[in-house]
Amino acid sequence: MEDLFQTEMNERDEAVRLRSELEEANYKYYVLNQPTLSDRDFDFKMKRLQALEERYPDLRTPDSPTQHVGSDLAKKANGFEQVAHRYPMLSLANSYSREEIEDWVRHLPADVEIVAELKYDGLSISLHYEQGRLVRALTRGDGVRGDDVLRNIRTIDSIPAYVQGLPDYYEIRGEVLLPWEAFERLNKEREEQEEPLFANPRNAASGTLKLLTPAEVARRGLTCRLYHVLGENLPGLTHTERLEQARKWGFPVSENMQVCHSVDEVMAFIERWDTERKNLPVATDGIVLKVNSIAAQQELGFTAKTPRWAIAYKFPAERQLTLLRQITYQVGRTGVITPVANLEPVQLSGTMVQRATLHNEDFVRQLGIREGDRVWVEKGGEIIPKITGKEETGEQQATGDYQFITHCPECGTALVRAEGEAAWRCPNENGCPPQQKGKLEHYVSRKAMNIDGLGEETIDLLWEKGLVRNIADLYDLKESDLSGLEGFGQKSAQRIIEGINASKQVPWERVLFALGIRMVGETTAKKIARRFRSLQDLQWATVEQLTAVEDVGEQIACNVTAFFERADNLAVLVRLQEAGVQFAAAEGVDEVVSNELEGMSIVISGVFEKHSRDEYKALIEKHGGKNVGSISKKTSFVLAGANMGPEKRKKAEALGIPIEDEDTFLRRIGAL
Ligand code: IVH
Repeated sequence: MEDLFQTEMNERDEAVRLRSELEEANYKYYVLNQPTLSDRDFDFKMKRLQALEERYPDLRTPDSPTQHVGSDLAKKANGFEQVAHRYPMLSLANSYSREEIEDWVRHLPADVEIVAELKYDGLSISLHYEQGRLVRALTRGDGVRGDDVLRNIRTIDSIPAYVQGLPDYYEIRGEVLLPWEAFERLNKEREEQEEPLFANPRNAASGTLKLLTPAEVARRGLTCRLYHVLGENLPGLTHTERLEQARKWGFPVSENMQVCHSVDEVMAFIERWDTERKNLPVATDGIVLKVNSIAAQQELGFTAKTPRWAIAYKFPAERQLTLLRQITYQVGRTGVITPVANLEPVQLSGTMVQRATLHNEDFVRQLGIREGDRVWVEKGGEIIPKITGKEETGEQQATGDYQFITHCPECGTALVRAEGEAAWRCPNENGCPPQQKGKLEHYVSRKAMNIDGLGEETIDLLWEKGLVRNIADLYDLKESDLSGLEGFGQKSAQRIIEGINASKQVPWERVLFALGIRMVGETTAKKIARRFRSLQDLQWATVEQLTAVEDVGEQIACNVTAFFERADNLAVLVRLQEAGVQFAAAEGVDEVVSNELEGMSIVISGVFEKHSRDEYKALIEKHGGKNVGSISKKTSFVLAGANMGPEKRKKAEALGIPIEDEDTFLRRIGAL
């Protein structure tokens, strides 16, 4: 009896733990775009929680992750309007084996046709057409409400803005994707800019769709595949007929579908596509099986989270066992020390893997791995291979605690690990070579001083020749220092020197960003520079004064004051000032008031009562927006006064661009 009681207590505890792990994983996956659990682990935990809730039904409350789909709605407003879905946007149950597929088929009416199609690995979107016009594009959100990302969806050329002949209300769903090629190009750019890389095209697509600047979205090159039609009185009695009709209407409908009549046929489709998918331009992570007949679909209906008429089969992540030869330690440009697994080279998904990051001390401890172990290397939806565990041999495992290194492998300084942080760091930021180079690279980068011709390689070269050690040294460089270097002619040397000279005109807010004070990113630097309009002002700022600036917390404020307390930093600043770098804002420049309109292109049309057109132009700029002359797909909205030009109105309506009156606009920017 006592035992049973104990088991129940343990299982209830386990359910509580699983709930919070799954909620956390959902949040990291959908909101932060930083997945922590593999899909497979997530599904196993979910299945275990479902089993426990079956045993203890009181645990199955409506807010359990078993009862709702993961939400990509940001916890705070993200600039998009949230709109209720007309039909909930559900998820799919996952399966991983023939047995699970057979089990699903057993619950279907006899002899139904099953459509096998590719499962695209992006994020789902629901396109709403009213009277043939695309009026909304909703993300899945929490399944009940989604974000209307129409202005970003308009950047996808293959999605029609107007379709003749559509039913009055027509909804078509599919997946927004970033093709492999665009993903690789984007990550390359981010690497050059030292921005964090996207782990896979799905995360990149999701991050892109939530951007506030449609121009940047357009530049990245999203695409889409549509696979589900909804609405009343639609033509076609089967899923495939409806999709064929949609294709004829000009929608980018998913290809490579196959109607199957047996599990054998389904398995053959799976086998074929597990190989062939590698040649597709976009990412796929499985296949989806759907009952073809719409009547049978309606008969089967839904569970709380998933349709009974469809199921996903996930391709297994490729994994291999290999020897962990050695753990080495890498010092990053910001001083973070990363342990790296050096492996006996092994072939995985077409590439040779011999190194994998071990992230940090805790990660190594959790895996319980040591040099000499045989470890599992996996490459699934994540592009970067990862170590997921070690071979369990049943033998006595190595004993003793894993010891992280205590001193920097580059400069020998004792490492520090701040409370609450996972990373060990080398604190010698001005004397540790990778960090010094990191500061130089950041300083010259496009968003900072934008010095043409100076990239990572050139910095490395200048470093090796002993020509630069810190950012002030750049201003002592002469053409003759460069023109003699390997790969440099007079022209390229001249270009660099010109770039360095031009950087003396870069405004104060970007200079502040370029200094590379920890956690002072581009936006924070802007905000600080607007409050402290010169180096002199900022140098003596107190933590209290700094935290009064929007978005500046205690930690950032302390980083700023600590920066100015260091004599070596002050010496560099004096030299930069002598070289002529801008350490004060120019008079009357950019009194930006808010970011309310950031990334928006706004057209002004008509006659206004409360302000002149010029005043509205200035207001748009003061709130971070851009005033543009003519209406296009990329226009965010039209600010319309009386007598708006009929041509403009027609065009705005045809493209589905919202029209806003004076008062609505003034309320939006908080001026009414
Ligand atoms: S049908 C009612 N078909 O996979 C469910 N979904 O893991 C309708 N997905 O939320 C979805 N390819 O974002 C369907 N061919 C396909 C798909 C597909 C990818 C995504 C979709 C869904 C998720 C579930």
